[in-house]
Amino acid sequence: MGGATERSERCSGSEMFSAEVMQVRGEDPEYGGQPVHVPVLAGEVIHTLLAGRDPQELEGWFVDGTTGAGGHAQLLLQSCPRVRLLCTDQDPDALHLAGEKLGHFGDRVRLRQSRHSELCRVIRKERIGRLQGVLFDLGVCSLHLDRPERGFSFQQDGPLDMRMDPTRDRTAAEIVNHWDESDLADLFYYEGNETRARKIASAIVEARRRAPFLRTSALAQTISICLGNPGGKIHPATKTFQALRRAVNEEGEELLLGLQAAEYWLDVGGVLAVISFHSGEDRVVKRFVQSGVKESRWKTAMKKPLTPTREELRINRRARSAKLRGVVRVRNQGVES
Ligand SMILES: C[S@@+](CC[C@H](N)C(=O)[O-])C[C@H]1O[C@@H](n2cnc3c(N)ncnc32)[C@H](O)[C@@H]1O
Repeated sequence: MGGATERSERCSGSEMFSAEVMQVRGEDPEYGGQPVHVPVLAGEVIHTLLAGRDPQELEGWFVDGTTGAGGHAQLLLQSCPRVRLLCTDQDPDALHLAGEKLGHFGDRVRLRQSRHSELCRVIRKERIGRLQGVLFDLGVCSLHLDRPERGFSFQQDGPLDMRMDPTRDRTAAEIVNHWDESDLADLFYYEGNETRARKIASAIVEARRRAPFLRTSALAQTISICLGNPGGKIHPATKTFQALRRAVNEEGEELLLGLQAAEYWLDVGGVLAVISFHSGEDRVVKRFVQSGVKESRWKTAMKKPLTPTREELRINRRARSAKLRGVVRVRNQGVES
């Protein structure tokens, strides 16, 4: 029964916005004819953010806390002609790209460089009051992975950096070259779900005695040699790189603060939608949502989290571990408007 409801919700979500979704997945002339980043679960995100409200009538402010290349933002603004959107991202390059894409929406859009941990302060400063919806599409953008100079890629060589906000103090090289072996192993295990964490940490510590790691290719190679490459679909360095990226950008801490900011600023009836790509990340969202539902601060917007359809996965392999959760705010905490 739940499954049937889920399927019909899902169907209307993706069908309602299918034309717009096709458009935002389209080619970007600014980026050599390739889309910079294909938004994941795009129709489903808009459907969730609406929570049954009429897109033509809906008014007020939304926040896209992970604006990236602006794909979801563009779709929301196109679908809801009276909605205004505060677009934040910690990465200035992403905001620049989003600005080019969203500029024609004029004063319906504000772009601000901000981390989730600063969101409360930014919303207050912008004087936009209570929100009708907040979106977090977590993790890394194709913009990061496809630009080797940002240091996220194990497939293309670059500096071992991985900072989404380039003003952060700590790079991946600092962690790899200075953390104790046991701390590295814990990081790879807990933040990357890497079961061979101890072996990798030991190989890194051994190799860095000879020379510090400065490039992504050197680290990827050390991990490949240490684990052997059985020719699987996933590169042996995938999980270690994910763990390092999460530590560099303090993704766990940031997420919790972002969720709290959303809860504080959402109006009754406003929606929080979160896409996660990592089981640890999804666990944090799930716990946050479940405790809020139990305490009647939220109600769920869907029975089960939504995942990409086979059709979406055919177009965008990077969507493969995406999970969308949505909740509706049901009680106000006395926010000044
Ligand atoms: C998956 S991308 C978002 C893509 C976007 N939804 C689109 O359609 O183009 C995630 C974005 O979130 C940003 N981000 C990640 N953690 C953040 C944080 N703590 N604060 C602000 N932005 C963050 C990244 O810089 C990246 O641009």
